[in-house]
Amino acid sequence: TNTNNTSMFHYWKYFAKGVEYTMIISAISVVFGVLLGTLLALMRFSHNKLVHAIAVAYIEFVRGTPLMVQVMFVYFGIGIIVNLPALLSGIIAVSLNSGAYVAEIIRGGIDSVAKGQTEASQSLGLNRTDTMRYVVMPQALKNIWPALGNEFISLIKESSIVSIIGVTDLIYQLNIVRADTYRGVMPVFIAMILYFIMTFILTRILNHYEGKMNHAK
Ligand code: ARG
Repeated sequence: TNTNNTSMFHYWKYFAKGVEYTMIISAISVVFGVLLGTLLALMRFSHNKLVHAIAVAYIEFVRGTPLMVQVMFVYFGIGIIVNLPALLSGIIAVSLNSGAYVAEIIRGGIDSVAKGQTEASQSLGLNRTDTMRYVVMPQALKNIWPALGNEFISLIKESSIVSIIGVTDLIYQLNIVRADTYRGVMPVFIAMILYFIMTFILTRILNHYEGKMNHAK
C-alpha cells in the first residue's frame, strides 16, 4: 500500500470540507439565533404574563439542557415526521439553542443601561417604546454587539457536536481521516489548529470593528 496516504496533505480536502461546514453551520445559526433571541428578549419584556412566561421557560429550558441532546432531539424527533438532512437538522438545533443565549445577551445589554436613563427619558414625556428605541437601545447595543461576536465564536466551537448526527463538519472529517490513515493524533491536532485559526481570525475581525465603534462615540 501507499504509505503516502498517511500524509495529512493528502487529506486536505477533507479538512477543507470540514472547515466549510463548520463555518456554514455557525454563520447561519448565529443569524437565526440573533433573530430568535431578539424575539425572545422582546417577549420577555412584554407585560403580557403568558408571553413573558413562554420566553422565560424557553430560555431556561434550552440553557438547562445540553446542546448534544437538543441536536439529537431535533434530528430524530423531526425524523419521525419528515426525513430532514442532518445538516439542516444541525442548523435548526444550533439556531434554536443560540436564540436562548442571544436573548440573555440582549437582556444583559439592556440591563446594563443605567436606570436613570429610563427615568429621565420618561420624565421628558417619552413613552415606553420610544424610551426603548431612542434612549436605552442605542446604549445597550454597545454591549450587545461585542457579545454577539463572542456568540459566533462560541458556535464555531460548540457546533462541533453536530458531528454525532453525521453532519460532515470538521470533527466528522477528522474522524474519517483518523480511520483512513490509522493515525490517532495528527488529524485531531490539525483540526484543533484549524478551529483555532477560525476563532483567531474572527476575534481579530471583531476587535477591529469594536475599536471603530468605540472611536465613534
Ligand atoms: N456546551 C454547552 C451545551 O452543550 C453550551 C452551548 C453553548 N451555546 C451557545 N449558543 N453559546 O449546552
